[in-house]
Amino acid sequence: MPACAGRLSLAPPLLLLLALRLCLGSGPPPAFDLLYADGVRAYFAREWPRAAELLQRSVHGYARLRDGRRECQRACRAEAGWAAAAPRGEAAFFGRLLQRAECLEECLRRRLDGQPSRHRASADVRRDFEQRQPYNYLQVAFFQLKRLDEAVSSAHTFFVANPQHLQMREDMEKYQRMAGVKAESFRDLEAVPHWVAYEAGVHHYSGDEYPQAVAKLEESLSKGLQALEDCRALCEGLQEEEEEEEMQPGLYEAIAARYVQVLKCRQKCVLDIATKPGRVSSVEDFIPSHFDLLQFAYDQVGNQALAAECTATYLLFYPSDERMLEKMKRYQAVLGAEAPVAAREVIRSYVQRSLMEKKLIYYAVEHLGETFDDPEPWTPEELIPESMREKHREDRVKQRREAPDVRQQQQQQQRGPLPFEGVAITLDASQLNGSQRVVLDRVLTESECKDLLRLAKAAGGSGGGYRGRRSPHTPHERFEGLTVLKALQLAKESAVDWRDAKLLLQASEKSRKIVESYFTPEKSLYFSFTHLVCRTAAEGEQEGRMDLSHPVHADNCLLDPEGNTCWKEPPAYIYRDYSAILYLNDDFQGGNLFFTETDAVTLTAQVRPKCGRLVAFSSGGENPHGVWAVTHGRRCAIALWYTLSLEHSEQERAQAEELVKQEEAEQEESHLNNKENTEVGHSPEPPAPKGRARSTSQRSKQHSESRVQSKGLQSRDEL
Ligand SMILES: *[C@@H]1O[C@H](CO)[C@@H](O)[C@H](O)[C@H]1NC(C)=O
Repeated sequence: MPACAGRLSLAPPLLLLLALRLCLGSGPPPAFDLLYADGVRAYFAREWPRAAELLQRSVHGYARLRDGRRECQRACRAEAGWAAAAPRGEAAFFGRLLQRAECLEECLRRRLDGQPSRHRASADVRRDFEQRQPYNYLQVAFFQLKRLDEAVSSAHTFFVANPQHLQMREDMEKYQRMAGVKAESFRDLEAVPHWVAYEAGVHHYSGDEYPQAVAKLEESLSKGLQALEDCRALCEGLQEEEEEEEMQPGLYEAIAARYVQVLKCRQKCVLDIATKPGRVSSVEDFIPSHFDLLQFAYDQVGNQALAAECTATYLLFYPSDERMLEKMKRYQAVLGAEAPVAAREVIRSYVQRSLMEKKLIYYAVEHLGETFDDPEPWTPEELIPESMREKHREDRVKQRREAPDVRQQQQQQQRGPLPFEGVAITLDASQLNGSQRVVLDRVLTESECKDLLRLAKAAGGSGGGYRGRRSPHTPHERFEGLTVLKALQLAKESAVDWRDAKLLLQASEKSRKIVESYFTPEKSLYFSFTHLVCRTAAEGEQEGRMDLSHPVHADNCLLDPEGNTCWKEPPAYIYRDYSAILYLNDDFQGGNLFFTETDAVTLTAQVRPKCGRLVAFSSGGENPHGVWAVTHGRRCAIALWYTLSLEHSEQERAQAEELVKQEEAEQEESHLNNKENTEVGHSPEPPAPKGRARSTSQRSKQHSESRVQSKGLQSRDEL
C-alpha cells in the first residue's frame, strides 16, 4: 500500500480524505500522522468517541516512534566493537560507517513494523505534535464525552506548552470554576521530568529547605542529562529536506557538511533541556547553575565534602570564577588537605565532549564557511576563532546584564542626585522590602493634580475614542485611558483645556527625569508609553469582591510563579526597563499598589496612592506588582514606562511634542500682544542641572522633521 508511506500534511483536505480511504485497511497499525489526520477529521464531524480514540492513539504512536529512534541510536553506538579487526585507512573508516548505518536500519525496521519510511510525517504534523496540538482537540472531545478528568488533563497539558493561547486560558478558567472538577485533574500528561524536579528544587531552595532542594536538584540534574542524551541522539536522525541544489557536493564535503550539522544540533540540545515547555527562552547556564545551587545547599545541610565536589564541578565550566575559588578554599580548609576534592566524572566528560565538538565546529566556521551560535556562555575564549571573539564577549556581557543571578538580585545601584527641589524620597528599596524600587512625594502640586483630574474627566465626557469601558482586568470597574497625543488632539479640537493637556506632557517628562537620575545616572531613559488611567468602582457590584483591580504581573517579562522566575519574552514588553506611576488622588477606597515575591502571592510592600506621589521601579521579575480592587470611587494615575533603548522609544511622543510646538507657534502669532503667558504657574520646576544629558524632547526632535522653530518658545518647551 504505497500511498500510506507518503508524507501527509493536514493542509489539503481532499487529498487527505483520499489518502485515508486508501490507507485504513488491514495491515500494521497506521502511522501516527495518519491517525492524527483521521482523528481530526472525526473531530470536525463531531464523532467524539472516534476522535478521542484516534487522537489518543496518534499521541501514543508519536511517543513510540521517538522512543524507537532514540533507542536505536543508542544501541548502534554501543555496538562499538564491530570494526576492531578491520583494515586501516579510508576503507576502515567507511566500513564502520556502513555497518553503523546497517545497524540503524535493521533496528528501526524491527521496532517500526518493518517499514520505517511510513513514519516520516510532514514538518507541519511534527510541529503540531511538538506544540501538543492533539491535546487541544482531545480536551474538546473528552468534554463532549463527559470524561471530565481526561478533558481537564488534556486542556492542562496543552496549556502548559501554549500559555499564550487565549481560548484555552478561558477554558482553563471555566474548568477551575466547574463543579466536580478535581485539583488532581490539572496534570501535565507530557510533563518533562527534569523540569518538574528543577522547579521543585528551586522552590525548596528559595524557601531555605535545603535537604529537599538537594534531592530535587540532583534529580533534575540526572534527568536533565538523560534528556540531553536523548535530544542528541535524535540529531543523528532524519534530515529535513532542503531545496534541491544544482550541483551535488563531493563525497567528503557532503559528509563534512552533514556531520557539522549534526554537531551543531547536538550542541543546541543544551538549550532544549533548559527551556521549559511553552517558553521560547531558556535558563542560562542550566547545568552549571545546578552546581552553584547544590554547593550552597550541601553546605547548608552540613555536607562539606559534596559541597566541595559541586564547587569543583562548577569550576570545570568557569575555572577562574573568583567567588567559587574562594568557596573552594574554605571547603578545603574545613575538609583538611589530605581529603582530595574531585569534580564529578559525568560532568568532566560532558565538558570534554562539548569542547571537542566546539573545536570541530569552530574549525568548520573558520575554514568551511559555516556559522555557529554557541549556546553555552562558558566556552573558553582560546577556543573561539579570533574573528568571533569580540562579538562573543559583547554577547556575554549583554546576557550577564540581563540575567541577574538568583541571589544577586538585591544589588543596589548608584543613585544620582534628584534634579528637582521639593521632591522627596519617602521610601527607598530597603524600606520597600525589595530592590530597584522607590517612592517619591511632591512631584505634583495639589493644583496640578486637580488640573490633570479635570483633564481625565473632560476627556471622558468628550466621547471620541475615549469612553470608559469595562476594565480588561475586572468586571467590577470601569477603565479609562488617555495618551498624551490623544489629549493634545482633543485640546486642539477644544474638547479639553490646552494647558491641562500640556501639563500631562510636562508631568510625564518631569517623572522621566526623576526616574532617570535616580536609577540610571549614567544613561538616558526614553519614553516607551505614557497613559493617564482612571479606574472607577462600579456602583453596587462590590459586595464580597475577591478579585484585584490589576492582577500581579511584572512589566517586561512573563511571571512564572511555579518556576520562581520571569521569562523575558513576548508578549511581555521586553524592552521596557523602568516603570513608574504618578498618582493624582486618594479619595477612593481600595486601590493600593502592592509588590510581591516572584511567587505572586507573598506580599512584600504596599503603597497608598496620593496626589503627587511617584512610585518607580525596574520593570523586571524583581518587581512583581498588582493593584487591590477599587471598591468605591475613582482612582486616577499616570502610568509611565521607560526604555534604555533609543530604537524602542515611543514614536507618538515625538508627534505629541511636534503638535505642541505647532500649536504654540500659532498661538504666538495670534496673540502677539499677550506677552505674559498664563502657563507659567504650571511649570514651576527649575531647569535641569548642568552637564546632564539633553532632554528626550530635544533628542527626539533630531528625527522628527521639525519645521516650526520659533526661538521665543524654546525656553517654555523646557520643563
Ligand atoms: C516591609 O516589611 C515590613 C515587615 O514585614 C512591613 O512592616 C512594612 O510595612 C513593609 N514595607 C512596606 C512599605 O510595605
